[in-house]
Amino acid sequence: MADLARTAAEMVAPGKGVLAADESIATMSARLEKAGVAPTEEHRRAYRELLVTTPGLARGVSGVILCDETFRQCVSDGRSFPDAMARLGLLPGIKVDTGARPLAGAPGETVTEGLDGLRERLAEYAALGARFAKWRAVISIGPETRYGTGTETDTGAGAGLPSRWKVRADAHALARYAALCQEAGIVPIVEPEVLMEGSHGTARCAAVTSEVLDEVFAELASAGVELDGVVLKPNMVVPGRESSETVTPDEVARATVTVLRAAVDERVAGIAFLSGGQRAARATANLAAMRRFETPWPLTFSFGRGLVDPALTAWRGDPARVADGQRALAHRVACNTAALTGTYTDALETAHAA
Ligand code: 13P
Repeated sequence: MADLARTAAEMVAPGKGVLAADESIATMSARLEKAGVAPTEEHRRAYRELLVTTPGLARGVSGVILCDETFRQCVSDGRSFPDAMARLGLLPGIKVDTGARPLAGAPGETVTEGLDGLRERLAEYAALGARFAKWRAVISIGPETRYGTGTETDTGAGAGLPSRWKVRADAHALARYAALCQEAGIVPIVEPEVLMEGSHGTARCAAVTSEVLDEVFAELASAGVELDGVVLKPNMVVPGRESSETVTPDEVARATVTVLRAAVDERVAGIAFLSGGQRAARATANLAAMRRFETPWPLTFSFGRGLVDPALTAWRGDPARVADGQRALAHRVACNTAALTGTYTDALETAHAA
C-alpha cells in the first residue's frame, strides 16, 4: 500500500497535474476531423506523441492518461508509449472503463461499464507499465421538479435527474474498479463527472455533486479502498452551459471547495479537476482561485480539453507544425502550474498569443 500512496502523492505533487490524453478512438477521431485532420490510427498516434514528447512537459505534468490504443503504440524511436513516458519522467496512466451505456431501470440515464475481465486487463496494463488508471462516470443534471428550488418545469425529459439508482450504480462500479486497481498495484483515479450540459444553476450543480460524492465515498468505504492511494477527479461546481447565471472564478472556487470539504474524506491523496468543456483559460482561472481556500488535500488539474485543444489547433496534422503544437501545450501547462503556485496572471495567459 505504501507504494500506491507514494504514486498517488507523486501524481498530485506541488505544482504538477495530470494530462488527460485518453480520448477513445471515436472521440479522438471526431476531434481530429473537426480540426481538419484525417482520423487515422497514425494521426491519433502522432498527435499523442506530440503531446507526451513536449519538451519540459514533466516540469508541470506528473503523468499522462492514455487509452488502450495509444498504450500499445510506439513513439518514433520504437519505444512503447509507457516506456517512452517513464524515461521522460511521466507516470503512464490508462483509461480502463469501456464507456457509458444505457442503464436498465433508469430511462434516459447511463452507467459506465468495463468491470468484466477488469482484473486481467489491469494485470496486463501493469505489466506494460501502467502506474495509475482512470474510470469516468458521467452524471447529467435534468430540469428540477416542482419540488426543487428553481423555476424550471417538471414535465420535460429528464426532469429531476439524476435518479438515485443511477447515482448508486455508478458509485458502486467506481468502487469495484478502484478496489481492483489497488489489488493490481495501480492507483485509481476516481472520476464522477457531473456534466455542464443543462440550464441548472450553481446551487443545483452543488447539490448533485454532493449527492454523487457522498455515494462514491460510501461505496469506496464498503469496498475497503485505501484512500491515500486514490486521486479524486471531480467536476468544478459551475452553472450549466445554458444557464443565464454568471459566476466569477472566486465564486466557483468557493462553491467547489465547500462541496468537496463536506463530502471528501481527508485521507484522499489529492483532487485533480477535469476541465469539463470550460474554455481553457476559464478552467485555469477557476483553479487559480481555489488556492485562496484551505483544503486537507492538494488540489490540481487533470485537464483534457483545457490543456490540449490549443495544441491540436496549432498542429492540424502537419509534421512541420509539431513544435507549434508543443509550444501551445507547454503554454497551457505553464498557465496551470502558475495557477497552482499563485503566479497566474492575465499577462502570462496572453503571453503565448502575443
Ligand atoms: P476534460 O478536461 O476535457 O473534461 O477531460 C478530462 C477527462 O479526463 C474526462 O474524462
